[in-house]
Amino acid sequence: MTLVAPPPIPRAAGSVPLLGHAVQLVRDNLGFIASLRADYGPLVEITLQPGTRTLIVQDPDLIRAMLTDLGPGLDKGRFFEKMGQLLGDSVVTAAGQEHVRRRRQLQPAFARPEIARYVDLMRGATTTAVDSWAPGRQLDVREAMVELSLEMLAKTVFADSLDDATFRRLRKDLSVVMNGVGARVMLPDWVEKLPLPFNRRFTAARDAVRATIDRAVAELQESGRETGDMLSLLLRTTDEETGLPLTGHQISSEILTLAVAGTETTASVLAWTLYEFARDADVERRVLDELDTVLDGRPIAFEDLPRLPYLGRVIRETLRLHHTGWLVTRRTVTRTQLGPWSVPAGTELAYCQHALHRDPALFPDPLTFDPDRWLQEAQAEAFTPGAYLPFGAGKHKCIGDRFAVTELVTAIATIIRRVRFDLPPGRTVRPVARATVRPSTLLMTAHRRTGSTEQEQEQD
Ligand code: HEM
Repeated sequence: MTLVAPPPIPRAAGSVPLLGHAVQLVRDNLGFIASLRADYGPLVEITLQPGTRTLIVQDPDLIRAMLTDLGPGLDKGRFFEKMGQLLGDSVVTAAGQEHVRRRRQLQPAFARPEIARYVDLMRGATTTAVDSWAPGRQLDVREAMVELSLEMLAKTVFADSLDDATFRRLRKDLSVVMNGVGARVMLPDWVEKLPLPFNRRFTAARDAVRATIDRAVAELQESGRETGDMLSLLLRTTDEETGLPLTGHQISSEILTLAVAGTETTASVLAWTLYEFARDADVERRVLDELDTVLDGRPIAFEDLPRLPYLGRVIRETLRLHHTGWLVTRRTVTRTQLGPWSVPAGTELAYCQHALHRDPALFPDPLTFDPDRWLQEAQAEAFTPGAYLPFGAGKHKCIGDRFAVTELVTAIATIIRRVRFDLPPGRTVRPVARATVRPSTLLMTAHRRTGSTEQEQEQD
């Protein structure tokens, strides 16, 4: 038998000394990554940190292999290392056995009965947000959705242990930090050390966020109050190796991880869904009709979630066309076989969900928002496995997937029964990638829906 050597892995054009591909990435990171998919094959090398090889994995089979079969043997890589500078060690940055242990500690907070309990809090937070939007006035919908997502997470994670002013500050600092993490992935490490205002702002915001969460954890720990939220659940958790309770620092790192992993992502998906409704009245009408039929005027409850298949497809399609992930990384620890390629230890591997989900070879007419492409499960399964990875795959698959879908369905159902949004004519909204991919700016006018499809008796 003759072994055929795999073709050499191409290097993307345009890398320069000291900066690698930072110029292309800073100018238009999504465009650059999408161009790699169009111009190169299953694997292509780019330079993020000069001296380190970064392979962009483009083929769905190889992406799946990286996440699942090879997953347990890989480190998390550059993106998560940068996140770790903010979060400290947490489930999102850990690898190997340490990851398994941390994930097990968090898992109970995401069990089905817990999520069912959160729905009322999520709906209450959404109702309050909707009531605060002035009818007929322009609203920065992306900002409003970040605020709402943080509010939903805060209500479920810390209950009411943060006062309003602290909460607003946390929200501002978190957004500085998230943008900083996004930039630090693209730029070589030496840029972080320069005494630039951008770096100073990042450090100050990171320290402030950390201090706020540390304080909330310490206060709850001292008070011994049982608030019924995730925070008090973690305070009761013990380390399975030592039998000791988790330290305040460990808990605050995990909470911070959830705040980072679960806010911008959900917010972007909410904002894009409302954008798609403003662009296509038919899609919105079908969702409203479904809500009218299933809910018959009452507020949405956990049991309703599986009874809203069209809304489910809308969210599925938003997670395809407008995915929030632009660079998910891993790193080889030993020489690793990826398909036919043997990759040396210390190589960064990365994939981009945003580009993957828009590949015309995988999804016909990929830029069209069409919830009915998911109509038949059989048809959905006809898509190439590994082509649609909204929550990733393997051991690091999103722990908050059920929580996120619950938030998305609850919030969308509550918003659109009360409000419709107008997009100024001719306005197109671009995706931009920072730590996550989000709409550039999304200004829309909110109008109260007359003859609201949700009766106003709800008192959250
Ligand atoms: C629509 C919203 C969301 C999307 C699209 C999303 C997507 C993802 C993806 C793709 C991963 C895998 C990353 C990897 O392969 O390394 C992930 C991991 C993770 N997500 Fe989410 N996520 C969302 C919401 C949430 C929420 C609401 C939470 C928590 C409240 C959360 C917490 C996490 C955590 C802790 C991890 C790390 C899991 C691990 O490494 O074991 N996510 N998410």
